[in-house]
Amino acid sequence: MHRSSLLALVPSVFLAHAATLRNRLDDTNVGLTPTMGWSSWNVAQCDAASEEYAMNTANKLSELGLKDLGYEYVNIDDCWTAKERDGNGNLVPDPNKWPRGIRPVVDDIHAMGLKFGLYGCAGTLTCASYPGSEDHEYQDVQLLADWDVDFWKHDNCFTECPVTPPPQTCWDYPVSTEPWYAKMADAIQSVKAQKEILFNLCQWGRNEVWTWGDKYGHSWRIENDNWGDWESVVRIGSKAGEIAQYSGPGGFNDLDMLFVGNNKLTHNQERLHFGLWAIAKSPLVIGADLTKIPTSSLDILRNKDLIVINQDPLGAAAAPFRPSNSNSPEPVPGEIYPYWTGPLSNGVVVAFSGANGAGDFSVKFSEVPGLEAGEHCWKEAYSGEEGRSDSLSFSVEQDDIAVFTVTDCA
Ligand code: GAL
Repeated sequence: MHRSSLLALVPSVFLAHAATLRNRLDDTNVGLTPTMGWSSWNVAQCDAASEEYAMNTANKLSELGLKDLGYEYVNIDDCWTAKERDGNGNLVPDPNKWPRGIRPVVDDIHAMGLKFGLYGCAGTLTCASYPGSEDHEYQDVQLLADWDVDFWKHDNCFTECPVTPPPQTCWDYPVSTEPWYAKMADAIQSVKAQKEILFNLCQWGRNEVWTWGDKYGHSWRIENDNWGDWESVVRIGSKAGEIAQYSGPGGFNDLDMLFVGNNKLTHNQERLHFGLWAIAKSPLVIGADLTKIPTSSLDILRNKDLIVINQDPLGAAAAPFRPSNSNSPEPVPGEIYPYWTGPLSNGVVVAFSGANGAGDFSVKFSEVPGLEAGEHCWKEAYSGEEGRSDSLSFSVEQDDIAVFTVTDCA
């Protein structure tokens, strides 16, 4: 992937590092746009790692029109295995959760036009203390290929650490996590002729993973977990704005799974959460129980304009910009800046965030990086409002967001 031309367009007002070109997985056929799907973890943690949840979700993705909008991965997170490997050292699906095993479920899900993902860990145990893949990388990946599994999330609990016994996380020690991910990536590459597996690095943003994650995988977590509270949305969303230049086709900053439809955030906060994740080109992985999700949340997840922005083939993540002529505030680290923009293949995206307070926002197109002064056509994603003008003016409520696609008028 040639990213130099793309990166030149990315607004760099607040970007600390110059854009760098790295060894992107440039022969990938999967993950060219951010992953869209569902994961069991935010729904009911270990309890949701079952065939029942996988099949119910697959049916709901179709029934609710989510599949047609691009949500295709049904991902099972931690706790899907038995507590011990079998006599051959293979991972064993928990027979209570997977009475038919994994492969028949994958086949059923594939027959529905969807994909299936699993979770594992670089250490000896997963974060919830199920068997990890350390020293079993090739064996585990062969099992995934034999089961026709499409996605693997690789966590980093119970890894090597300079203290004994290794704690659940080795956060506090200056350990390079890169070799663990390199090893799993090699294993995944080794089965590529049989099965191409999308590789998600669940690495919580250690060792500035965004500067090297694309050598090994298709997306990498940039922060500690999204805990489903507003503080998490602000912590992760503001971080994404600082490292936007590292996302591109085939390798994306992962802001973590969504909490939209979990009755944890207000309606405005759910709108901002989804809107910001979409423009930051994060994987959009639903974390709600689709058999119970409120319609108001479903409508957010089904916002077609935001999905089109997220899946734009240019793959460039939006970042904060400071309008030169407006009365725009100083950026504050750890806060979500009110003005965001980024290039799209058909124009630019502009967003106004009300995370720091409601307001009447306005910006002239001459102030937006990558846009010529003068008249443009625009559409706001949540309201559907459209216009033709040389500036944008919009009222945004507390914690809400407005997201505009701005294009040349035909
Ligand atoms: C965490 C990870 C979460 C979830 C959990 C499972 O480390 O960040 O996304 O996978 O482990 O135990």
